[in-house]
Amino acid sequence: MRNRFVATVAVATVAALGLAACGSSNTPEQGAAPNTSLATKAGGAGGDVGVFTWWAAGSEKEGLDALEKLFKEKYPNNNFVNLAVAGGAGSNAKAKLASDLQNNQPPDSFQGHAGAELLDYIDAGQIEPVNDVITALGGDQVFPKNLLERITVNGNIYSVPSNIHRANVVWANSEVLKKAGINSVPKDIASWMADMDKVKASGVSTPLSIAGSWTQVQLFETVLISTLGPEKYSGLFDGKTAWDSAEVKQAAADYKKLLTYANTASDGDDWPVATDMVIDGKAAYNVMGDWAVAEFTAKGKKEQTDYQYFPVPGQDGVFDFLADSFTLPKGAKNPGGAKDWLMLVGSADGQKAFNMAKGSIPARTDVPPTDFPPYQQSAMEAFKSNTIVSSIAHGAAVSLAWNADITTAISKFYTTKDDATLVTDLTAAAKKNLG
Ligand code: GAL
Repeated sequence: MRNRFVATVAVATVAALGLAACGSSNTPEQGAAPNTSLATKAGGAGGDVGVFTWWAAGSEKEGLDALEKLFKEKYPNNNFVNLAVAGGAGSNAKAKLASDLQNNQPPDSFQGHAGAELLDYIDAGQIEPVNDVITALGGDQVFPKNLLERITVNGNIYSVPSNIHRANVVWANSEVLKKAGINSVPKDIASWMADMDKVKASGVSTPLSIAGSWTQVQLFETVLISTLGPEKYSGLFDGKTAWDSAEVKQAAADYKKLLTYANTASDGDDWPVATDMVIDGKAAYNVMGDWAVAEFTAKGKKEQTDYQYFPVPGQDGVFDFLADSFTLPKGAKNPGGAKDWLMLVGSADGQKAFNMAKGSIPARTDVPPTDFPPYQQSAMEAFKSNTIVSSIAHGAAVSLAWNADITTAISKFYTTKDDATLVTDLTAAAKKNLG
């Protein structure tokens, strides 16, 4: 199921994503288990609604706060309980969630990535279909068809998408680049590293900022995309591209060299540590998902004057995709309240409030771009015209277990700097997880 899914949707243009309203059906098959408790009561079902995320601090919390505020306004009968666990990319949250689900102590709703990661929860029988919520929200008239495919199994839809993020963005400090005499965007990884030499020569000792392991996985995935191109990169997840191919070896060697330009990171460093290095002029570049734009905004920084952004060199026209979505866990104490939350998350108002604050773009296609800041408008354009590939670090391309194995390999590499062993470890991880 997982491989079928990845093969079908890993490379798609927005035309294939059906951004225009799709007439074709992506609705549940006849006989799909109906949800009986869609709470449509004015003011909400009532009671506590425990929502589990990793949006616990800073600009990420601002996104969640925007949703919470609207939830309280629209569903005053409900009591929102914030169960957020700090740590970007769910680096701590996912373990806590796994044990809560294992112990039959699920939250009323939790954040899960559309794609391979969601399939894990579906395969494990931990979440319920939410077809009725998606239908009530407008179904494939308002959500891109291929996004719905990423959360659909056997005709059942298992989550409500809240947003779409892009992982392959370089964030750069304008002043640092100016001092280094850099005034154009590098065309590939090699010319980018040549620019990093200029940054070093201008007196900034760490041109590139990184944080803990998952940010390194994300950086590595973008190097893979540049070296392999979108088609072969996508083939890594369905067995069509070998993990010990010459291109992956080249990517590992490039990645090794890239790290020579970076600061020393500790495993626990969260992404704002790295992004703030760019904001503070201590680094020229940070590769970070576009949640970073919210950090620049929160720190009062202005686009172009203070910072710039561009796709990771070598991947113009490629959108490294991930989407957050919210679930209805099996055994949730307040399924009616959870559905109120899902209705809010999937509503046009909810998507506008959340994505304006979060740096992402709405999953819905009927939220006007003109309401958004320039970065998000450009991301919406890119999402429409680019080739879409799936993020490794953020649950779109690989399962939780495979992601954990890749993270272990990348983390080991950070200590050893042995790129041959990195390729061997990644190849073994693929073999284990692809079967
Ligand atoms: C991703 C998540 C984003 C953002 C990021 C950093 O996994 O999808 O919404 O939270 O982690 O924490």
